[in-house]
Amino acid sequence: MDERSRFHVNFWGPTGGLLYHLKAWRYRKTLWSPFLKSVDAFLTTWRPPETELIIIGASGGHTLPTNFLFDFDKLTLVDPDPMAKFIFQRVHGLHGKGSPEYQWHTSDFIFSNGSFKSRLLIDWLAERPNAALLFSNILGQLPLINDDEDALVAWWAELQPFLAQRSWASYHDLFSFAGGQPLPSQLPPGPIAPLLIEWAGEKKLPLEIVDHGTSELLPSSQNSAWVWLLTPRQTHIVGHQSYRRTPSLVKT
Ligand SMILES: C[S@@+](CC[C@H](N)C(=O)[O-])C[C@H]1O[C@@H](n2cnc3c(N)ncnc32)[C@H](O)[C@@H]1O
Repeated sequence: MDERSRFHVNFWGPTGGLLYHLKAWRYRKTLWSPFLKSVDAFLTTWRPPETELIIIGASGGHTLPTNFLFDFDKLTLVDPDPMAKFIFQRVHGLHGKGSPEYQWHTSDFIFSNGSFKSRLLIDWLAERPNAALLFSNILGQLPLINDDEDALVAWWAELQPFLAQRSWASYHDLFSFAGGQPLPSQLPPGPIAPLLIEWAGEKKLPLEIVDHGTSELLPSSQNSAWVWLLTPRQTHIVGHQSYRRTPSLVKT
């Protein structure tokens, strides 16, 4: 891919970019509020013992609580979106008082020439053995970039032994669809698609569900899923999973 088309992809992005920042600007304090409360509660409960946090898919940090971020000594933020660093700094006041030290990376640690490449992340993480890792609404975006499901599953499987050596968490799109109001802000644990089909049937609404390929990758039938009204006309169902290392095993 040449530089111009790469910039085009990053700027508009299938998974973020300008349109996502505009939606955040428009809805973050209103429509997104119940979803952001769920993310906040999840991250507060997870709060890992590591003093450094790596965030993959940081974007403008529109769904991340500032208090949670400021509780770390160091943030390592990864997103290829050329606007994301500036917006993240503004949203969270990263130059302000009490702000953690931070580093921004626009390099791609997931894909090489468009293909999943687990070594990229494994080797990069090896240089940061004492950092916790947050996949911040990125795993469900990966099939939009490369729809090779087997390659995604293999990539995730190869990462597992390395993830087990640090605290990590993910919240990720499970399903999305047009419409969605009024659904409750959380769905009960258990299979989600039948629930949505029943709901749409009762309301006599057309329903075309996009599967983001994460429900089998990160099975979390024990957890309730969150309903994120991204816009008045677009809903995402978001899953979450976390692992917290025993504090005595973490070097600070
Ligand atoms: C849905 S957004 C993430 C939202 C963000 N965590 C927030 O709180 O607003 C997905 C992000 O993943 C980013 N992304 C796409 N490919 C990526 C990659 N290979 N590594 C890291 N981030 C990537 C996109 O640029 C986009 O900003």
